[in-house]
Amino acid sequence: MNYRHAFHAGNHADVFKHLVLTRLFAMLARKDAPYAYLDSHAGIGLYDLAGDQASRTGEWSQGIGRLWQAEGMPAVFADYLGVIRQLNADGALRYYPGSPELARQLSRPQDRLHLNEKHPEDGQLLKDNMAGDRRVAVHRGEGWHVPRALLPTREKRVLMLIDPPFEQADELSRCVTALQEAIGRMRQAIVVIWYPIKDERQLKRFYQDLARSGAPKLLRAELYVHPTDDASRLSGSGLAISNPPWGLEDTLREVLPWLAEHLAQSQGGWRLDWLIGEG
Ligand SMILES: C[S@@+](CC[C@H](N)C(=O)[O-])C[C@H]1O[C@@H](n2cnc3c(N)ncnc32)[C@H](O)[C@@H]1O
Repeated sequence: MNYRHAFHAGNHADVFKHLVLTRLFAMLARKDAPYAYLDSHAGIGLYDLAGDQASRTGEWSQGIGRLWQAEGMPAVFADYLGVIRQLNADGALRYYPGSPELARQLSRPQDRLHLNEKHPEDGQLLKDNMAGDRRVAVHRGEGWHVPRALLPTREKRVLMLIDPPFEQADELSRCVTALQEAIGRMRQAIVVIWYPIKDERQLKRFYQDLARSGAPKLLRAELYVHPTDDASRLSGSGLAISNPPWGLEDTLREVLPWLAEHLAQSQGGWRLDWLIGEG
């Protein structure tokens, strides 16, 4: 396990994934009934952008660094930026929330969070960062076991993020299996798979597998910061979302062009369509 998310925290892919997550928390909050949030590959939860690892790549400067200075942002960015502003009360951008911290701050007293991180040091950091919140359970096991170990939950509503490091060749197909295991246990689960836009050939197979996964509905949203024909670099990132709540597609149609314009490096772009549509 070589991957450490601190090198990449706050980059364009994090901004996209985390913005969508914050909209999902807002949409789940439209009903009082509790939900469970599951994060199979959670990272450490909170990142210091001035720390050694984030500073070495400086990736965040092309992600949240650009948003921090942008004007005319769509209103739906408010929750996401609100959490970041709260972490940086003096106005200087230094601390960046991972998916666990966003979940912790945007969920409600009746909701429960299950956060899993396998890396021994990062698991401990996650535990430290989440300490004191009784709604949060930190697990330090195998992320691919999370759907089988934790679903179904006593809450009828579930949001699960599957966000592996993609260090190994089989991780795209493992994401599809995890999705199938999740919807096999809770058909209504909102499952969000994050994936890198790198190798188009591998992605073609992944899309076919997702389309045959048996999910009731599956939305695909992608954001590009470079042209997508170079398999050696991260051209962008995608989210495959099962059972997206009402309104999410419209929100994505609003924010994707904005993000593509403001986060583009050599060339911005986006795509939004259904891998599995209604009926
Ligand atoms: C992309 S990062 C997660 C970022 C986090 N979800 C966020 O948005 O803030 C992937 C994480 O998965 C962890 N990881 C790698 N292999 C794992 C495994 N088999 N099970 C659980 N966690 C794993 C890595 O240590 C890393 O922290």
